[in-house]
Amino acid sequence: MKASIVRSLGAGFELAEHVDIAAPIGKEVLVEVKASGLCHTDDLAAKYPLGWEPPAVFGHEVAGVVTAVGPDVVDLVVGDHVVGCLVQYCGTCSQCQAGNQVLCAHPEATLRADGQPPRLSENGVAIGQGMGLGGFAQQALIHEHQLAKVPDQIGWPQAALLGCGVVTGAGAVLNTADVQPSDAVVVIGVGGVGLNALNGAVTAGAATIIAIDIADEKLDRAKRFGATHVINSATSDPVEEVRRITGVGADAVFDFVGLKPVTQQALQMVAPGGGLYLIGVLDPTSVLEISAVELLGGRLHVEGVYMGSTTAKRDIPLYARLYLEGRFRLDELVSREISLAQIEEGYAMLKDPTVARVVVTDLS
Ligand SMILES: NC(=O)c1ccc[n+]([C@@H]2O[C@H](COP(=O)([O-])OP(=O)(O)OC[C@H]3O[C@@H](n4cnc5c(N)ncnc54)[C@H](O)[C@@H]3O)[C@@H](O)[C@H]2O)c1
Ligand SMILES: [Zn+2]
Ligand SMILES: [Zn+2]
Repeated sequence: MKASIVRSLGAGFELAEHVDIAAPIGKEVLVEVKASGLCHTDDLAAKYPLGWEPPAVFGHEVAGVVTAVGPDVVDLVVGDHVVGCLVQYCGTCSQCQAGNQVLCAHPEATLRADGQPPRLSENGVAIGQGMGLGGFAQQALIHEHQLAKVPDQIGWPQAALLGCGVVTGAGAVLNTADVQPSDAVVVIGVGGVGLNALNGAVTAGAATIIAIDIADEKLDRAKRFGATHVINSATSDPVEEVRRITGVGADAVFDFVGLKPVTQQALQMVAPGGGLYLIGVLDPTSVLEISAVELLGGRLHVEGVYMGSTTAKRDIPLYARLYLEGRFRLDELVSREISLAQIEEGYAMLKDPTVARVVVTDLS
């Protein structure tokens, strides 16, 4: 099959014509890939050592059709439409039992054990599979825990986005922060992921939804996604503006940017008793300074959010249903559709402020 391979860190995405994929064993599911979204994390993993050694096939926003299942698969059958999610969980540890799959103690349970033949290879040489998914390929071999079934009616590119951008943004609001109708919410950085926090805030019925960004095009789109107020932080003081709109600050502030000055400002926007939720990782070296008195006096909390605290097999079909009912916006997230050979160009397209997400839909 064809697959886009990153051969060494920084070498970029290169189309390979003859990659072998193994037959499913155990709880593995073979998926014919129909769409694969370009998330920034794959681009980072292709450049920096984040734990997936090249040569590897990345692509972790993947949707497709089940074409074969291993003998131990229990909840998927051939023909099912599925969406992958990078959250890997064993299903049996104490965190999994408590419903906290994002904290699973044995995520490696979703992968083949040492000594077993690799899932992917080229001329007999093993090729890694980013995040257990490897969606930038014509087919992907994935543990059933990393796949959620979605209704056949949802389009492929929209479905693919559910797996990362959507669960991360919407889940931060609905699962992690548990936003209530009376809440004032601030979303900083309304790109491909932050826009889904707006979807989540609208679903939660939040009274005040403030979007902050540095690009007017992004803020115009944020209004269409349900923001009640928008602030361009390049031209006005966002802390002052949030205080003016809310009076006391926001109950939940979501930082999808992750640059130190932005996060420090975000902390100043939180109302007494409220929370700051950290999602963006633009600058991995950024260290937050918090005054203990400020934290204590304001009874504030600061929380790192991983994958929207999702339970993927519950959340992905839920968001798909909300989309099909017209209650969740996904169409406008699919800005460009490209082929498997164009992944490098696709990442360059993401720099355009009018582009929210780029999705591989031509896998021929
Ligand atoms: N925590 C997790 O589990 C998780 C999962 C997926 C993605 N992420 C991270 O979420 C972040 C957002 O991803 P994305 O795909 O939406 O990226 P994106 O580039 O599409 O969006 C980022 C947005 O932030 C805006 N921005 C940049 N600098 C800003 C500033 N100084 N002030 C205000 N806005 C600013 C940009 O204009 C853009 O709209 C990334 O860092 C990504 O790695 C985290
Ligand atoms: Zn992602
Ligand atoms: Zn577990």
